[in-house]
Amino acid sequence: MASNSFFTLLLLTTSLSAVASFEFQVGGLKGWVVPPANDSKIYNDWASENRFKAGDTVRFRYKKDSVMEVTNEEYKRCNSTQPSFFSNTGNTVFQFNRSGTFYFISGASGHCEKGQRMIVKVMADDESSDSEKSSAVRTPISWLGIMKFVSASLALYIVF
Ligand SMILES: *[C@@H]1O[C@H](CO)[C@@H](O)[C@H](O)[C@H]1NC(C)=O
Ligand SMILES: *[C@@H]1O[C@H](CO)[C@@H](O)[C@H](O)[C@H]1NC(C)=O
Ligand SMILES: *[C@@H]1O[C@H](CO)[C@@H](O)[C@H](O)[C@H]1NC(C)=O
Repeated sequence: MASNSFFTLLLLTTSLSAVASFEFQVGGLKGWVVPPANDSKIYNDWASENRFKAGDTVRFRYKKDSVMEVTNEEYKRCNSTQPSFFSNTGNTVFQFNRSGTFYFISGASGHCEKGQRMIVKVMADDESSDSEKSSAVRTPISWLGIMKFVSASLALYIVF
């Protein structure tokens, strides 16, 4: 009985983690800031170490700054005149509503040029579920992802 329900829990947890969407905290604890001059690629390095899926969200935390989603062309030129998304609340959650590439820049003057910009490649749903390998890589790398996973497991534990 006990081992039976444990097995059910395990199964549920596994399937839950396969469908759950994840929240990633951009830049980890430092948040969304102008990168140091000798390390201007931090955001693209960070993004390429994570696996994003449609439905996932990214959270930007910052002070006296902003987040914009722009086109590839605007990203390259740090052109902030016509973003398709803009937020300057200091705590912005952006959800990927499709697979493909998303481009983010800071809207604060001069920040994008100093490297405060990021390219995120979002996988299609079926791309991520086709092998165990990819789901292993997807297992939360970010701190918040781990928190979510833990709380999901905990919720299940309480249910049982
Ligand atoms: C950048 O410079 C800081 C301060 O001089 C140093 O601590 C850090 O290791 C350097 N980072 C890289 C990637 O070179
Ligand atoms: C910035 O982007 C807008 C819209 O895409 C465009 O009309 C404008 O010419 C661009 N400005 C520069 C300096 O590239
Ligand atoms: C995703 O959201 C953007 C901005 O709200 C919208 O323009 C676009 O049509 C949406 N794409 C899909 C596939 O829903």
